[in-house]
Amino acid sequence: MAIILNGARIRDEIKAELVPRVQKLTQTLGRAPGLSVILAGSNAASQIYVAGKTRAARDVGIYSETLTPPESVTTEELLAMVDALNAQPEIDGILVQLPLPAQVDEASVLMRVSPAKDVDGFHPCNVGMLSTGRPGPRPCTPAGIIQLLKRHGIPMSGRRATVVGRSSIVGKPMSMLLVAEDATVTTAHSRTVDLPAVCREADILVAAMGRPAMLTREYIKPGATVIDVGMNRITSRDAAERIYRHDAARLQQFDAKGSVLVGDVDPLAMAEVAGAYTPVPGGVGPLTIAMLMVNTVEAAERKAI
Ligand code: GUN
Repeated sequence: MAIILNGARIRDEIKAELVPRVQKLTQTLGRAPGLSVILAGSNAASQIYVAGKTRAARDVGIYSETLTPPESVTTEELLAMVDALNAQPEIDGILVQLPLPAQVDEASVLMRVSPAKDVDGFHPCNVGMLSTGRPGPRPCTPAGIIQLLKRHGIPMSGRRATVVGRSSIVGKPMSMLLVAEDATVTTAHSRTVDLPAVCREADILVAAMGRPAMLTREYIKPGATVIDVGMNRITSRDAAERIYRHDAARLQQFDAKGSVLVGDVDPLAMAEVAGAYTPVPGGVGPLTIAMLMVNTVEAAERKAI
């Protein structure tokens, strides 16, 4: 039987460890650590993610605020908001929720966040800190995956890892973090030749390409650890039946809601072939928010010393 890697349990552990650090910071700084989130427009998924971030901040004692410019916001207006937050001493962390409305130049807004307050770890300065092994904020989802692996005692040193997907948010930083743990890492993507064979080499397989249930049985080495970062909402009953052919409860969920969440890995293949895996939902998802709290606390700690 495969081990299910429990993201919610590790999230709770990480949050509990933050509470005394937040209390100490609150004494030292004379205020709670502060996080400001910019949530532009009305993307439904983003609203749910940001609500989760606000709840987690409250749980650990971080002050958080959410700024909600309208869908029609311009790049210049967002740059001005970021400038104001950069200058505000009681704000330690700034997060610009993605995606931004289509008319906005996302790269220049992300570049404008002060590297010291960049709790997403997206600023090129912090990408450079990661790639050169210097301390700094690490992107939350891949950093959470490293915590999940470490805290479940899954060795990385010397192991073969394949990361499928090369996004700046997950794939690329994931590969760099695995290299930093002394894994032997391949970054695979849509142009990779013979992707199943490249994936089958992996002791640790990370799926982060945003393609529902794409990695099937022939992509998974028996006994491998499989980390599924995918969060795809499926609205076709046929597709749901194909993917959850073994899971009546999921199909019932589909019938009740008209949709169901599916990762990037075929769930039945993962449960049958992997040695350990993250379920969707409940695997990787909870850790992203926990690591955002870690990055916010660390940004405040750097200020306090
Ligand atoms: N949208 C989806 N994931 C993320 C994330 O990790 N950070 C930000 N800022 N936006 C996101």
